[in-house]
Amino acid sequence: MTLLDRRTLLAGGGLLLAAACTRKFASPERAGTLPIPRLIDARQQGQLISLQAQKGETAFFPGRRSTTLGYNGSYLGPTLRVHRGDDVTMAVRNSLSADTTVHWHGLLVPGELDGSPHQLIASGATWRPTLPIRQPAATLFYHSHAHGLTGEQVYSGLAGMLVVTDEEEQGLGLPSDYGVDDLPVLIQDRQFEDGRLVMPTGMMIASQGRRGNTILVNGAPTPRADVPNGLVRLRLVNGSNARIYELSFSDDRTFHWIGTEGGLLARSVELQAITLAPGQRAEILVSFADGQPVSLVTGQDANASMMGMMGGMGMMGGHHDDEDDASTTETVLAFSPRPGLGGRAAAPVPTLLAARTVPDPDAAVTRRRFVLNMSTEGEGMMGSDGDALTINDRSFDIGRIDEEVRLGDVEIWKVSGRKMPHPFHIHGVHFDVLRRDGDDPDVLDQGPRDTIVVKEAVELLVRFDQPATKAPFMYHCHILEHEDEGMMGQFTVA
Ligand code: C2O
Ligand code: CU
Ligand code: CU
Repeated sequence: MTLLDRRTLLAGGGLLLAAACTRKFASPERAGTLPIPRLIDARQQGQLISLQAQKGETAFFPGRRSTTLGYNGSYLGPTLRVHRGDDVTMAVRNSLSADTTVHWHGLLVPGELDGSPHQLIASGATWRPTLPIRQPAATLFYHSHAHGLTGEQVYSGLAGMLVVTDEEEQGLGLPSDYGVDDLPVLIQDRQFEDGRLVMPTGMMIASQGRRGNTILVNGAPTPRADVPNGLVRLRLVNGSNARIYELSFSDDRTFHWIGTEGGLLARSVELQAITLAPGQRAEILVSFADGQPVSLVTGQDANASMMGMMGGMGMMGGHHDDEDDASTTETVLAFSPRPGLGGRAAAPVPTLLAARTVPDPDAAVTRRRFVLNMSTEGEGMMGSDGDALTINDRSFDIGRIDEEVRLGDVEIWKVSGRKMPHPFHIHGVHFDVLRRDGDDPDVLDQGPRDTIVVKEAVELLVRFDQPATKAPFMYHCHILEHEDEGMMGQFTVA
């Protein structure tokens, strides 16, 4: 499908169209409270969770209604909690007029249960996979993955959080009172015009991805969270289509990084800033014991403006004097610590978290090389001919298997990205970063990962433990417009 076809399709879906504009609508002073998505625990549902992809209306700003999509609601979906060792059935009904899928990003299940473009749910149909939960505690992410429509459907609201818990994690005494000291923080930038959500379209979209002038957290524009004046766990999910965040606190306080996409780290790491690319997750612990209001902030998106092409990605929000210093940082989420909200005032941060075995690099039997690329010809028109966004010079073809892997093998995948940083994601595995640019990986590269930013060559150590014979797994750039325009491949595991 070409960009033009999809534009028409969307217009039919009732969404407003607009060219990119950088005017801000949201301002932190008028921030609402952080919405906490409803928690659905599979054990309280007899291991059957019903999800319905549906169209709705959302007032992101008072009195301004926008047409949106959601699961069991008008925008985004509930937080689903599943327990290691259980088998959970998902009944996913598609009440949209278009096809969709639900991909369990980060969940380690066989290919036919993955919710990839191969498990399309037709309009009116219900898909019922039974998911064996066999992995350690982690913060995962579910979202639409209907090829060619992923960017638009996620942008419109088809995403939510999936939390895996297990006894090991529960035994650590981490903050775990959902919505109180254990907060879901799903971050998305979206474009608003006069308070209404609009779908950016146009020539730059395929190359830069859909970006916006407003940051939403759990669907609310730069909200404020009331938190206990103690230790709080934030489950950070970058659910944006294209934007990479450099997250820190407005007073540069340190926090403890405890988990990646794949689960808890071996030991916690003290940081002042963390990078989060689309598809990536991080769990952090931050103390509000001083009772001071503070905000989670990010460096400005240099790619947001039509002018700011290519340059400036990865700039650090290194110095932020205060929140109105809009030239260096932008507020994501404000916190108001309050006594008496529960939580634990002076809970210690556990140092040792999860024990895990990393495969021995010498056990790797195969090396593969991947180059994510974008055509330089006629920049701004990329993707319109369907061939300009590629991996190893090939655009995605759902009928072609690009790689064949043997079940149980350990491999080294060397991945690099051209023109701009690309968040590279592999389905059905968690991997470790072995080398970045020929050197030891960065401290932020550690842990079990499923999405990693590549520019310079990154070597990933991957063990393939999930079969993909009935349906292949995907690997792709998690800038959703790059993915939709062909920066994706697929592999079998047999
Ligand atoms: Cu979150 Cu294949 O994607
Ligand atoms: Cu995935
Ligand atoms: Cu990309």
